[in-house]
Amino acid sequence: MMAGMTIDTETAKEEQRVHDWREAGEAWGHSANNWATLYEHYAIDVMIAIFCRVGMADGVDVLDMACGSGLALRHAGAMGATVSGIDAAETLIEIARDRNPEADVRLGSMFALPWRDESFDVVTSINGVWGGCEAALVEAHRVLRPAGMLGISFWGTGTPNDLRGCFKAFARHSPEEHFGSMKRLNDIAAPGVAETMLTESGFEVMERGERVSVIEWPDPELAWRAVSSVGPAVPALRHTEEAVVKQAVLEAIDHCRDDRGAYRFQNDHHFVIARKVGQ
Ligand SMILES: C[S@@+](CC[C@H](N)C(=O)[O-])C[C@H]1O[C@@H](n2cnc3c(N)ncnc32)[C@H](O)[C@@H]1O
Repeated sequence: MMAGMTIDTETAKEEQRVHDWREAGEAWGHSANNWATLYEHYAIDVMIAIFCRVGMADGVDVLDMACGSGLALRHAGAMGATVSGIDAAETLIEIARDRNPEADVRLGSMFALPWRDESFDVVTSINGVWGGCEAALVEAHRVLRPAGMLGISFWGTGTPNDLRGCFKAFARHSPEEHFGSMKRLNDIAAPGVAETMLTESGFEVMERGERVSVIEWPDPELAWRAVSSVGPAVPALRHTEEAVVKQAVLEAIDHCRDDRGAYRFQNDHHFVIARKVGQ
């Protein structure tokens, strides 16, 4: 009886986990072409900061967790690394594979990495590891070789925060239960939270840094196509008429237009660099 109960609990947990990553992948992949061509370069500044610190170079084995449509894989490959990636969104994975024919790109969850222990010198994740993603850090630790390096990024809590208005507009037009889950995700930016998650997963934290990332779009139509490609747009677009959400978003970002009518968004972006300790 007890053994059966244990199995049921474990099965339930596993089902939850499988369900969650597939659902997340469907949301993030709902507008893959717009994401890959109009939005994905939003984090270039912080990606470069991470790559400079983790020893990205010729012959280094790198895994990018939550790799999306594979921009980080391309840049790591251009620096000579041997690259692998995993993401929950099938449509983004297809683009990542097209862009990185040499890479080992897999559809799946960063909570259960399909690679053997000690396969990589470096693991990165650009805005893929959030509050509540401790299991992904434990997995990153497992697949890293001893003294392997980890670099992750996430939105900061400070200024500038030009894109925050979009995310708030999406949250306002989503079902209420989404507020709590979005807050938990963003908790990682609070002082000490990422550091605690990393330390408890077996890492030594080397550095926490900040970069202002910049992304631009030439007009409202392209700005809308870009921002509505993000995963958090999906609950809003399912819950509220698209025209209403679009108007709320364009109003929220109107202050980011310059004299030519183009939008320029600047955002506080944080990164943390850590090293694997122990086995
Ligand atoms: C903010 S996007 C970042 C994508 C990419 N790293 C980039 O910066 O362009 C978050 C990504 O995490 C992926 N994701 C969410 N949950 C995941 C999971 N459990 N395992 C793997 N990928 C996941 C989504 O599909 C999405 O591509």
